Amino acid sequence: MAKAKTAYTCTECGGQTAKWQGQCPHCLAWNTLVESVCEPAGTRFNALSVTSRVQSLGEVDAAEAPRYPTGVDELDRVLGGGLVTGAVVLIGGDPGIGKSTLLLQSLCHMSGARQVLYVSGEESAQQIALRARRLSVNATRVQLLAEIQLEKIQSTLAAHRPEVAVIDSIQTVYSEALQSAPGSVAQVRECAAQLTRIAKQSGTTVILVGHVTKEGALAGPRVLEHIVDTVLYFEGDSGSAFRLLRAFKNRFGPGNELGVFAMTDKGLRGVTNPSALFLSHHAQRVAGSCVMVTQEGTRPLLVEVQALVDQSHAPNPRRLSVGLEQNRLAMLLAVLHRHAGISCLDQDVFVNAVGGVKISEPAADLAVLLAIVSSLRNRPVPEKLVVFGEVGLAGEIRPVQRGQERLKEAAKLGFERALIPAANKPKQVIQGMEVVAVARLEDAVAYCRA
Ligand code: TYD
Ligand code: MG
Repeated sequence: MAKAKTAYTCTECGGQTAKWQGQCPHCLAWNTLVESVCEPAGTRFNALSVTSRVQSLGEVDAAEAPRYPTGVDELDRVLGGGLVTGAVVLIGGDPGIGKSTLLLQSLCHMSGARQVLYVSGEESAQQIALRARRLSVNATRVQLLAEIQLEKIQSTLAAHRPEVAVIDSIQTVYSEALQSAPGSVAQVRECAAQLTRIAKQSGTTVILVGHVTKEGALAGPRVLEHIVDTVLYFEGDSGSAFRLLRAFKNRFGPGNELGVFAMTDKGLRGVTNPSALFLSHHAQRVAGSCVMVTQEGTRPLLVEVQALVDQSHAPNPRRLSVGLEQNRLAMLLAVLHRHAGISCLDQDVFVNAVGGVKISEPAADLAVLLAIVSSLRNRPVPEKLVVFGEVGLAGEIRPVQRGQERLKEAAKLGFERALIPAANKPKQVIQGMEVVAVARLEDAVAYCRA
């Protein structure tokens, strides 16, 4: 029998090469190429949406797609007002963070008014029924299918025509058409593409659950992110009850909107006023801690950034960051050295955003640096101080978006001083808040020393 033709697929980016190599030529990741069987080109390359004739944009009926609420307010907020007919939503997150819980809660709410289908490849029907009972929600009208074969799921979708279908999880689903194992890049991509096509053709809203690997990528398939309409990520500390749901991409609403939940014994509860959640309350002022205001979507959040700087015993001092960007930390340390004359060359530096939040915006730069300086000198930053600002390579403090709103939120929570970029200086006085606007990193460091 002729040997099946194989190709090597990168588990990170999905790129293909004909021969095995140590490094993926597409994304330059190491040891990520895995062998997979090439499928004969057939009818499976169907377009994702219904193809039609060429027309001018003016003729297209651009009516807003109807939205319906999910029954979970924080989820609606992140989605931009609810689910859209025919949309495909991907919800990613670490195992055990609460994806299945959230979706079951939401399906139960929606099942009162609509046809909903829950496809589970991870849990048995009994387990799901038990979970629904624990959540004390009315699950009697939720249709359930425990299945992992794509073709059977497709025919069930065609027969039942639900308005909302949840696939939990996309990594367990496999298609007969491919020989690679469930969870492999090829399978995940193929199954997601087929389900997306069904969603677009039938108007069923499909919600895909995806697990995230240790590195933070959706297991293998970052490739899914461009197929689907909306990508939401669930994040949070396993030690804390709070969970954040973040819109990473949204074709039907604002990107980067944030939903906040608390995990209780009755499932996930929305937290409507989360701005003070990520502050740890120290009895005394401590060195190495600095509070910043981050603006996620429409909501300002106060987050404590902690740093620990310690004498290094290794030839290469360690730079470790949790919840903040690792590469940015190295860059910030270089700026600190060159422009403020503070060196951490022989020091290990650890930084952490409290509460398992992930901060991706550069507005955290100034808080990170001040926490580092504070730890290095073993000297707390001034009391009731809140900080934000991006630090540039030339040592300048750059403005951030929505400075005024950030300041107002901090004032509301009892902060009395703010160290902010010069260009963000508010025009009016903010009640109870002393605002110090700085243009250079040196000035900010000097302010904290005074
Ligand atoms: P789950 O939704 O199964 O996670 P995922 O689908 O993302 O893998 O969440 C499971 C976790 O949530 C588990 O550690 C127990 C916890 N949990 C509660 O604390 N309260 C509850 O009411 C439920 C249903 C789960
Ligand atoms: Mg689950």
